[in-house]
Amino acid sequence: MRIFKFGVAVQTKNENNRLVDAFNRCVSYLRISITDRCNLKCRYCAPYDQKRIDKKKLLTLEEIERLVSIGTSLGITKVRLTGGEPLVRQGAISLVQRLNDVEGLKDLSLTTNGTLLTKYARGLKQAGLKRLNISLDTFNREKFRQLTGHDSFPKVWDGIQEALKTGFDPIKINSVVMKGYNDDEIEQLAALTLQFPFHVRFIEYMPIGAQPHLTHPYFISVVEIEKRLSRIATLIPIASKPFDGPAKRFRFKNAKGEIGLIGSMSTHFCGACNRLRLTATGHLRPCLLADEQIDLRHSLRQGATDEQIESIFLEVVSKKKKQHRISFTRKTALNSQMVNIGG
Ligand code: GTP
Ligand code: 5AD
Repeated sequence: MRIFKFGVAVQTKNENNRLVDAFNRCVSYLRISITDRCNLKCRYCAPYDQKRIDKKKLLTLEEIERLVSIGTSLGITKVRLTGGEPLVRQGAISLVQRLNDVEGLKDLSLTTNGTLLTKYARGLKQAGLKRLNISLDTFNREKFRQLTGHDSFPKVWDGIQEALKTGFDPIKINSVVMKGYNDDEIEQLAALTLQFPFHVRFIEYMPIGAQPHLTHPYFISVVEIEKRLSRIATLIPIASKPFDGPAKRFRFKNAKGEIGLIGSMSTHFCGACNRLRLTATGHLRPCLLADEQIDLRHSLRQGATDEQIESIFLEVVSKKKKQHRISFTRKTALNSQMVNIGG
């Protein structure tokens, strides 16, 4: 199917009924925020005065399942559940189980802050989840409390260990690096890969939302992080396959795990972008770093047919830009909050 923009056809589906955007990128990955709520308040993610969204505005689990089924019929093969904190949503485990049964879905994963894993890791595994991404920015309990507003470091660490025991593979550890805050722990975080089979990923801080207390001075590029790490030991590159994910991958000799560098700002990976995002309120977005979105919830609740929902997917795909326009130098930031879109 083709959608016309200013009289020019923008490809949105190829001959195999797969979503393809105007720049010939196949779109096969849907990231779904299942709640705006979070039991932490990380300064880079959620504003302190965040207003809770009325529960009625959240997509129901049935609505999410329906959208995933429609997505897979259009070639979505990979889904990630995010939040807020996805595990505070009631029914998160049963959602995993239902999505696991959706035909055509090959990879289902979840990004969590780790606080509830001691409680839910086993249930998630039994529901069919295979891999997890867990946020961890510091080993220092007091810094953790300052960053997140909660004294939850021990819970998170226990949660990570529980995930390991339960057999998730891989377990990716996400660390957003901020100068003067946790950059003194880069080496220690990377050293986790010597002891555990974790993929430790260093992520560039992104200026998302109005957060005057965390802006440019905190930014550290992945180039700088790579230099710092290569001073402690040789970084052996690991070849990434196309559409593997945004991380540039390395490992230390004899390490059990690997290191990933995610340069969302400096070396953005838009050229290989294969993603759409669904917010907790049911808005479909072509890009993490653009405020544009289309309201699917309204259509769902107005009784839209699968074909009508499909056409919204196509329209959103047609809106994917060649590259995101967020940058520190242009002083462009996003109005949406990460906690609403999902990390
Ligand atoms: P998988 O390949 O599914 O494991 O995902 P991933 O490697 O993309 O990891 P994850 O989903 O944890 O994303 C890591 C980080 O990359 C996020 O926390 C964001 O900071 C950043 N990121 C994720 N998606 C996008 C995106 O679409 N655009 C940009 N610029 N950054 C992104
Ligand atoms: N910059 C970079 N990454 C962020 N995340 C959240 N906010 C930001 C930001 N401002 C990422 C973290 C976390 C995931 C949920 O989202 O990596 O692991």
